Amino acid sequence: IIIQKTPDAGCLLGAKIMAKKVREKPDAVLGLATGRTPERLYGELVRMHREEGLDFSQVTTFNLDEYVGLSPDHPQSYRRFMNEHLFDHINIDLARTHVPAGDAADLQAECRAYEQRIAAAGGIDLQLLGLGRNGHIGFNEPTGSLRSRTWIKILSEQTLEDNSAVFGDMAAMPRHAISMGIGTIIDARQIVLLAFGPAKVRAVMDMIEGPLAAVCPGSALQQHPRATVVLDEASAGGL
Ligand code: GLP
Repeated sequence: IIIQKTPDAGCLLGAKIMAKKVREKPDAVLGLATGRTPERLYGELVRMHREEGLDFSQVTTFNLDEYVGLSPDHPQSYRRFMNEHLFDHINIDLARTHVPAGDAADLQAECRAYEQRIAAAGGIDLQLLGLGRNGHIGFNEPTGSLRSRTWIKILSEQTLEDNSAVFGDMAAMPRHAISMGIGTIIDARQIVLLAFGPAKVRAVMDMIEGPLAAVCPGSALQQHPRATVVLDEASAGGL
């Protein structure tokens, strides 16, 4: 657990950890997250690519999740988020970037195929995570199974409330998402979770000091042999 002064400093540290992995293993498999939290981290990776030649040409990526019903080019899709914040600005081969297809005709088949693609790539070397206000990781909401795999998840009231602003109104907000399961996430060989700001205080306390329990999906990290949690002073305020 590393407490930085500001979210900016936390993002720079997170970027450093990811860049180190890519330098050590140029064909690393990275698990990526969306949300406001990692935006600055992706900005820093872009800077490292431009100014320091950080090379993504052999890197493979798997995103945690995608909203059900959104096409890849929907303004609020996580595919679009990743292209705009990272992929369009680095030398990554887009064919090596994976985001679940939220508009797949057969969603269950897409979930199974996503797990198979991760396995075929050799598993995830380093998984980046954010933390929901209710302790969710990916879209694994409280009470989801700690062993779950990639599947269709029902979004909680809290998440609908937190994420609906960008959709304009609640009616336009998807109610479901495809997400890696907690079991999928925990299989990653290394994990870096970022959580910043006063809104995350309770979730951070539950994740770190609470019991290992499905009511706080983030608490699954307590059992991981190589998980780094990067906080700022605000989110660490309750520890
Ligand atoms: C979203 C995503 C999560 C993310 C979390 C926190 O809904 N599914 O992967 O970590 O909620 O979001 P933010 O970083 O915007 O606070």
